[in-house]
Amino acid sequence: MRATWDAAASADRVDDYVGDPATARAELDGLLGRLGDDGRAGVCVEVGCGPGRMTGLLADRFDRVVAVDVSSEMLELARSRVPSPMVDFRRVGGERLDSVEDAIADVLVCYLVLQHLPERRLVVSYVREFGRVLSPGGRAFVQIPVMQNGVRSTAWRALRRFALPVATRLRGGVAAQAAYRGVRLKESELERALADAGLRVAARDEGTDSPYRYAREVFLRLEHLD
Ligand SMILES: C[S@@+](CC[C@H](N)C(=O)[O-])C[C@H]1O[C@@H](n2cnc3c(N)ncnc32)[C@H](O)[C@@H]1O
Repeated sequence: MRATWDAAASADRVDDYVGDPATARAELDGLLGRLGDDGRAGVCVEVGCGPGRMTGLLADRFDRVVAVDVSSEMLELARSRVPSPMVDFRRVGGERLDSVEDAIADVLVCYLVLQHLPERRLVVSYVREFGRVLSPGGRAFVQIPVMQNGVRSTAWRALRRFALPVATRLRGGVAAQAAYRGVRLKESELERALADAGLRVAARDEGTDSPYRYAREVFLRLEHLD
């Protein structure tokens, strides 16, 4: 994961891999707004901050931002683009949010990140970590592709699992890497992961034009189970 995203950060057009800076405000407002929240004040943990596309906007909203990423190169870019004393940039190992304290986050934002994790166990682990770092009463705003039910999508996921290593060897480049292409959870797998993490879905919305094949784009506001 680190090698893939360090390579993306060093590419001439990093925004091609990360997202358009010009639409960051609309995307952040859209994420919070569609989940019925304005998200201001307190400590915000941003998971997968990239080169800081949304980090400065989060720093305007919250008292403090802990922005984490698996890639040292992404964090370097983010530090230079968002030189705010309100933001604490930290690297994580990629399997857990290992540099983030328990119950620190009044708000957690994870946007365009879970779609890239290359194994299902990593997505499940991150959901568990969201539960760990959220304060009692905290809210997590999470974007995640979720597989449609049905034989075709299940077959697609299985095929992709075997085809991807071959594509990586043949084509190379960031976009062919498993750590860029990511895996998808089924609805039942997501439900289990949330229950194991002690989280409940307080609000849910879906995009109308999903960019993912055989998967819906799902937006969740998560809170601790009572
Ligand atoms: C598509 S970019 C999105 C960046 C940012 N969230 C945004 O919307 O502008 C994905 C980011 O997730 C980071 N990432 C990928 N896998 C990660 C992991 N396991 N833990 C933390 N960050 C990860 C990448 O390094 C990259 O910066």
